[in-house]
Amino acid sequence: MAKKQIALVLGDGSGPEMMAQAVKVVKKAARLDGLDLEFIETPMGWNAYDKYKDTLPEESFKKAVEIGTIFFGGVGDFENDQTIGKEKPEMKPESRVLLALRKKMGLLLNFRPMIFYKSLSHLANVKPETIPDEGVKQIWIRFLLEDSYFGNTDLMKDIPENIKKKIGVKLKKDVTGDEEIVTDLAYYRKATVEKYLRAAFAYAKKSKLPLISIDKANVMARYDFWRRITNRIAEEFPEVELINQLVDSANSLLFTPAKLNGVIACGNEHGDILSDGAAASLGSMGMMASSAINPDTGAAMFESGAGTAPTIAGQDKANPLGRILTGALMLRHLGAEKGADSIERAVNTVLREGFRTGDLFLKGRDDPAKLLGTSAMGAKVLDIFNQPAGIN
Ligand code: IPM
Ligand code: MG
Repeated sequence: MAKKQIALVLGDGSGPEMMAQAVKVVKKAARLDGLDLEFIETPMGWNAYDKYKDTLPEESFKKAVEIGTIFFGGVGDFENDQTIGKEKPEMKPESRVLLALRKKMGLLLNFRPMIFYKSLSHLANVKPETIPDEGVKQIWIRFLLEDSYFGNTDLMKDIPENIKKKIGVKLKKDVTGDEEIVTDLAYYRKATVEKYLRAAFAYAKKSKLPLISIDKANVMARYDFWRRITNRIAEEFPEVELINQLVDSANSLLFTPAKLNGVIACGNEHGDILSDGAAASLGSMGMMASSAINPDTGAAMFESGAGTAPTIAGQDKANPLGRILTGALMLRHLGAEKGADSIERAVNTVLREGFRTGDLFLKGRDDPAKLLGTSAMGAKVLDIFNQPAGIN
């Protein structure tokens, strides 16, 4: 059996509980494609701080980057942010860890697929009648570099000191609250936008879906630029229907998910905001699968967009399905298609059979006997997995 190493970050809060389930399912699924996964722990987050006095220990960072494929349980929790994070804001792991990995590994494409099945439309937070019989596929591909996220760090060195002072460009860790003006530089580079859009169009072509490009071209220079590049690249993909959508109207369409059926291209900041909304309209943030990929090197990080659920940590209550579905994205990236499909089908089956974690459970609608904890939900998925006939 072919072996493949994966860097494993168990993470903070409920991360380790959810990842324990996801790792079991993914390992089993990979075997269907003749792949033997070996997980190497690379601790990051507040849990790592306890031992290494750093939320991003050098050794973990190096090892994870070297392995090049990371299965990531999520970092950050409110309590440590308020205590240690108050004194050492630079240690707050959400930005320290995530932004460093994205930057170092060049993770440009952030896939957040949101699939709405008709049979599960009662789980959605939108009206069930807004989901057509054929279901809805929103394949969000967020541009994960540059923009306002990396502007100040990336461009700082090119700006003279006096101008930086005058227009208030500084690193987040240096903000005191006493400034007259503070600026986040938001930028896009032509070469990066072109590469990103070509990948998004190619994905739309392969999946026979329209490309919905989200921008704010009516107001902002960088989005006027984005729109011009989009329209130009569209000419290379005549078979893909292009829809240019302004971000504010895209936001209103989250309530009628079929109107955003397609591959959705969006900037870093817009994508951050809209993809949470899309996940919530689907039912729960706990279900959001996510991957971040460098299209040139294949380096990738697989991180459910679902957060770490710190308030229920250690209680065996968090929803592991987002992590498990993220594992399916990882398998697909590694070419283990059978395993990936089987995971997605198994999760779908478990939900159709009425099994729920607390975040998905609705009193009066769902059967209390089918309310499961983290490990029971993981076991349920694995169960279906173990009966080939049950995978449908
Ligand atoms: C996400 C998160 C991150 C982001 C934060 C924690 C840095 O919200 O992955 O969506 O904004 O990108
Ligand atoms: Mg976010």
